Amino acid sequence: MTRDGRQTPSQAVRRERTRSQGESRQRRTPDERPPGGWRRPGVPVDWARSTTAHLGSVYPFQVDAGVGDRGPLIGSNVTGGFAGFFFDPFELYQSGVLTNPNMIVMGSVGFGKSATVKAFLRRLVAVYGADRFLAVIDPKGEYAPLAGDLGLSVVKLHPGGSQHLNPMDDPGGLTDDGVLARQTLASGLVAGALGRPLNPLEDAVLGWAVERACQERTAFTLPDLAAGVLDPPDELVRLSRHSPLELARATAPVSFALDKLCARTLRGMFDQPTNVRVDWTGGPGVVLDLSAVHHQPDALPLVMVAATHWLSTALRAQRRPAVQVIDEAWAAIRHGAAWFQASLKLSRTYGVATVLVCHRPADLTAQADDGTTAAKIAAGLLSDIQTRVLFRQPPEQVAAAADLFDLTERQRDWLGQLVRGRALWQLGTTRAAVVHTVLTDNERRLFDTDERMRAPGVGDAA
Ligand SMILES: Nc1ncnc2c1ncn2[C@@H]1O[C@H](COP(=O)(O)OP(=O)(O)OP(=O)(O)O)[C@@H](O)[C@H]1O
Ligand SMILES: [Mg+2]
Repeated sequence: MTRDGRQTPSQAVRRERTRSQGESRQRRTPDERPPGGWRRPGVPVDWARSTTAHLGSVYPFQVDAGVGDRGPLIGSNVTGGFAGFFFDPFELYQSGVLTNPNMIVMGSVGFGKSATVKAFLRRLVAVYGADRFLAVIDPKGEYAPLAGDLGLSVVKLHPGGSQHLNPMDDPGGLTDDGVLARQTLASGLVAGALGRPLNPLEDAVLGWAVERACQERTAFTLPDLAAGVLDPPDELVRLSRHSPLELARATAPVSFALDKLCARTLRGMFDQPTNVRVDWTGGPGVVLDLSAVHHQPDALPLVMVAATHWLSTALRAQRRPAVQVIDEAWAAIRHGAAWFQASLKLSRTYGVATVLVCHRPADLTAQADDGTTAAKIAAGLLSDIQTRVLFRQPPEQVAAAADLFDLTERQRDWLGQLVRGRALWQLGTTRAAVVHTVLTDNERRLFDTDERMRAPGVGDAA
């Protein structure tokens, strides 16, 4: 083209030649021999011209317009001609591609979920610097190299340790919101410790104790709450239509559960006032390392619930857009699906994008006892998660995943075949792409979780 938009003579000749060739091919019938006498193999198809916009709707996985080039580069768009794939939930929210910034990353063990999340976090810092705050719940203790690289604070919690977080810290904001959040957390923790849902009377006494503690003190802890349950006010005794002794008997399981949480499960981690220092205003972020309880299947879910609660509360008070990663999220969802659902809904209010990392569809529904409730919980959570990053699923999980994420036939086939580092990204309801996360050499070293598998002696056998 010339500067004023006219064709150069050679462009005009090429275009005319292509047009006349196309027309002569269109006019030919399937059996007609082309000039030169040879016959084309296969099924003859008429030539047609189209734009990439039209082709994109007919062949969504051969031609993909992508989602722009704002945000960090994640890797290459395998189904979009291997173009660069850029992603930032806040940018895509602004441009209207997404209506919420939350993400779920799901897939089999070892296929690269955490590596993709770590690359995303690291590159967010490269692109936005101090304009993004990063927060990670790290149940396996594998984010330390990334934390070292980015200068994130690491809070390592362990039973009887010296660093404490108080999950009953005041979330600020609306008072009712703060009371409700702490009531939901208290009943989630107590139900988890009891291994069953609370009955209405237990729930009322616990809820009342939280409300009273919120009114009477600026800060209170789980042991304060346990004392409140043991000593219900006269008004509550009257309302319950029980004698004080009967009420104490009926709510004894709640007291025992709180005692168990403070004396064992959460001891020395979540039973005292918060004493860790995190630079919420200027620092790059924080990692909560929970690896000390990772191998305790009963304690881990409760520790995760307390940790995610504390972190979300703290994030609400800080002013920058924040990305909160909850790795091994199944453990937290087990006793906190209701709370998660409420928390995901507030993501836009507080500018927090939550990234849940889990293995299979059932991780979203592990606490439900029947299929209908399970489906409702999963649908409730997913309704507030518009970015779904799906790594390979084992054959027996593909159908469930296809149902849950409403996959097309082709996407469903891919889900069982994706190689390590490659995932199907669903963005909102209309965009999808298979993306290969490309790691730099430095990132391969920082994100390596297979080190032990390559230890001396492994693979040495003759
Ligand atoms: N895109 C990639 N390119 C190269 N190596 C990768 C890629 N993704 C992951 N890996 C490597 O594969 C190994 C497993 O990755 P990762 O720990 O992210 O898996 P995961 O899905 O989180 O596993 P788990 O379910 O056990 O948490 C790591 O050593 C990582 O460095
Ligand atoms: Mg992982």
